[in-house]
Amino acid sequence: MKKLFVKTFGCQMNVYDSERMKDVLAPTGYMPTDSLEDADMVILNTCHIREKASEKVFSDLGRLRKLKDRAAEQQNRQILIAVAGCVAQAEGEEITRRAPWVDMVVGPQTYHRLPELVAKADPISRLSVVDTEFPTEVKFDFLPEEAAPRGPSAFLSVQEGCDKFCSFCVVPYTRGSEFSRQAGQIINEAKRLVAAGTREITLLGQNVNAWHGAAPDGTSWGLGRLIRELAEIDGLPRLRYTTSHPLDMDDDLMSAHRDVPQLMPYLHLPVQAGSDRILKAMNRRHTADDYRRIIDRLRTFKPGLALSGDFIVGFPGETDRDFADTIKLVADIGYASAYSFKYSPRPGTPAAGDEQQVDAQVKADRLAALQQLLDAQQMAFNKTCEGQQMAVLIHKMGSRDGQVTGRSPFMQSVYLKGDHTHLGKMVTVTVKEARQNSLLVQTGKRPQQMKSEENVA
Ligand code: 5AD
Ligand code: SF4
Repeated sequence: MKKLFVKTFGCQMNVYDSERMKDVLAPTGYMPTDSLEDADMVILNTCHIREKASEKVFSDLGRLRKLKDRAAEQQNRQILIAVAGCVAQAEGEEITRRAPWVDMVVGPQTYHRLPELVAKADPISRLSVVDTEFPTEVKFDFLPEEAAPRGPSAFLSVQEGCDKFCSFCVVPYTRGSEFSRQAGQIINEAKRLVAAGTREITLLGQNVNAWHGAAPDGTSWGLGRLIRELAEIDGLPRLRYTTSHPLDMDDDLMSAHRDVPQLMPYLHLPVQAGSDRILKAMNRRHTADDYRRIIDRLRTFKPGLALSGDFIVGFPGETDRDFADTIKLVADIGYASAYSFKYSPRPGTPAAGDEQQVDAQVKADRLAALQQLLDAQQMAFNKTCEGQQMAVLIHKMGSRDGQVTGRSPFMQSVYLKGDHTHLGKMVTVTVKEARQNSLLVQTGKRPQQMKSEENVA
């Protein structure tokens, strides 16, 4: 039996893909390990979204070279090293040129071919193989069933790629054009996950709400319909989806937030900036007011919906006035949580060549100001939960002994006393005290399996 170590960088889709790579390699005799020292194959599943994320890969590769050399010299053992994911797609052969000890480079759309690549790669003669094609076949049609249960909370990719071409973003180049999986295939995967103990499924896509899949009834469904169908699965009390684009927020999806109790009252809907001038330069194809109107409409369907977003500060040409518009938009919307980043010029994207790059210190100051506001909003949102009763899904072990971690409907972390027998259980709690990044709670009912969840909030 050989051992496989996978390290995942970046987004949730990479987390999903890493699990799928383990599935693909299981029939060839590679079993996952958590110990890098024991590994016979190491896969770095990489992220290209910002420069920092990309650079981490090369520093890791430096360390892996030493590990590989040591295993060969001291144990006469060959370790295969693979670079997968978005850096693999973007850099291709450049990786094996810079790091010739890498045996395989495989893009996000070809990892179903890993067994063939492993057969071709030869660590002794150092013959590396690179597969960064955008193939005509669909990888999902070739992936085997899950080799291991995914746990109480699992990801399920339904859509990949992007045709929107925001001028800052590498995704259209690394993940390819928009693709939607067939509804029947998604429903079958969801049923298998639930049969193996999953209680919360997060549907994934770079533009998940652009999903339009062929349905078993011969028509094409949108995401709202897919969510309604998935809600019919017994034993699946929670559904989520991420990441959405404002322009693809249609009424059927919005009304699913009203109609489907399993759909959690939390939505990640990035806007990126609050200035129309910058939104235009970003090629977002919506204004700040368009976004405000979408949020208003969502809130008519689902009052109390918790919102999350992504923001970029220091996009080329962003002035103090533009940045003030971002602050104004954030103040108007009120986020329960959010992610914010300094603009990072990415090779091959239109904005990278823009001459009006913003000074690094200005970017840092704007990021600090924005994060201060977002942190305050997060704390204020958490405060509104004090005294409320809510259902918590226990989804993983805590970092301390005798502790388990759960998640509220609004994605807040909750730490409880418990052990592995509580994993996958739903427990009703009363929130005693809000913290910046978690809720302190009092448990009411003993952890128990619930069929469907009432959104108490
Ligand atoms: N620089 C900074 N942040 C970026 N993002 C995407 N591309 C860049 C970039 N070039 C952010 C966006 C996106 C999130 C996943 O990462 O906010 O929504
Ligand atoms: Fe990073 Fe985007 Fe690739 Fe995810 S899809 S790994 S965020 S570059």
